[in-house]
Amino acid sequence: LFAAIDLAPRDPILGLNEAFAADKRDTKVNLGVGVYYDDAGKIPLLAAVREAEKLRFEQAAARGYLPIEGIAAYDAAVGKLLFGAESPIVTEGRLVTAQALGGTGALKIGADFLKRYFPASKVLISNPSWENHRALFESAGFEVGTYAYYVSPTDGANVAGMLADLKAAAPQTIVVLHACCHNPTGVDLTADDWKQVVEVVKERNLIAFLDIAYQGFGDGIDADAVAVRLFADAGISFLVSSSFSKSFSLYGERVGALTVVDGSKDESARVLSQLKRVIRTNYSNPPTHGGTVVASVLNTPELRKLWEDELAGMRDRIKTMRAGLAEGLGEKFAFVTRQRGMFSYTGLSAAQVERLKEEFGIYAVSSGRICVAALNSKNLGYVVDAIGKVVA
Ligand code: LMR
Repeated sequence: LFAAIDLAPRDPILGLNEAFAADKRDTKVNLGVGVYYDDAGKIPLLAAVREAEKLRFEQAAARGYLPIEGIAAYDAAVGKLLFGAESPIVTEGRLVTAQALGGTGALKIGADFLKRYFPASKVLISNPSWENHRALFESAGFEVGTYAYYVSPTDGANVAGMLADLKAAAPQTIVVLHACCHNPTGVDLTADDWKQVVEVVKERNLIAFLDIAYQGFGDGIDADAVAVRLFADAGISFLVSSSFSKSFSLYGERVGALTVVDGSKDESARVLSQLKRVIRTNYSNPPTHGGTVVASVLNTPELRKLWEDELAGMRDRIKTMRAGLAEGLGEKFAFVTRQRGMFSYTGLSAAQVERLKEEFGIYAVSSGRICVAALNSKNLGYVVDAIGKVVA
């Protein structure tokens, strides 16, 4: 039956974990996948999460099915985190949030929902983008193209090219935008750039789909929401996929959300009814643990404060690693400190990345993306030396 099936290639990002695990060298370093490690090289279990888990354990709550759209307190907290508690979108109920299986799950529900109502639309993703964006929207049945985004490590974003490509897009083209901490480049737009993007999206009647998987890893929770909030101020409908994988260090719990911003409370009710159909046929309803923990942290002032402090600690540590990398590698790599979030697009070629792996056991994505959040005070010098050698 399956004799003619081809072997699929390894996933360009998660596949690196498999290769890394099989590597016997004890000097190996995994700069592939976007995961935050602490200075001891461990994935942290946040104290705020531990506290919320303790409470949950003490309550010994039953594990019934959740509503299809997830936990109400979780969904409400997501909307407030994205737009701010006072946002008219929140107070007037012009949004629907559905708990989803991580940011990827949110993108998938959003893609399936959009395919149902805008079957002829094309999707544009940034050039370059997260490897899974293209695969995900193609698998939902869309044709996927790109808009200009990035020039080079030193020159950063190509705002003029991006605006020109968006202006040339047909109405109702779906435009996938990285709201902050662009993956893979680490190159973000300024608030003024975003204002222009919002203007074009509105003028051209495009469908913006903002992906925000790293809120809090750039400059802060509110600062990183600037793009989302500018879209909110524009009074248009759009979608947001968000994730707590990184900000709560809850990768394996798959805690994310899809939020659809629309025109009225009544529209929200209809959108929600359709999202529920999409979710029901994908995975029925989301799991309980991660959503309960995140809702408890976000909705309990002391835990919220603890989490915000821990998130700031992660953000600051990444910045320290960026500074160390730039210092170690010299002027040519000064751009690393201007990039935001977990990643740096280093400008390393696929051949140089291969050499890093073969000679040094340092794993990076073949595009030259490295996860700065996997550097620490012990491996930084080794990585600096190795990069120095492959670029020499
Ligand atoms: C990444 O880009 O490394 C992360 O978003 C993890 C993933 O799912 O690819």
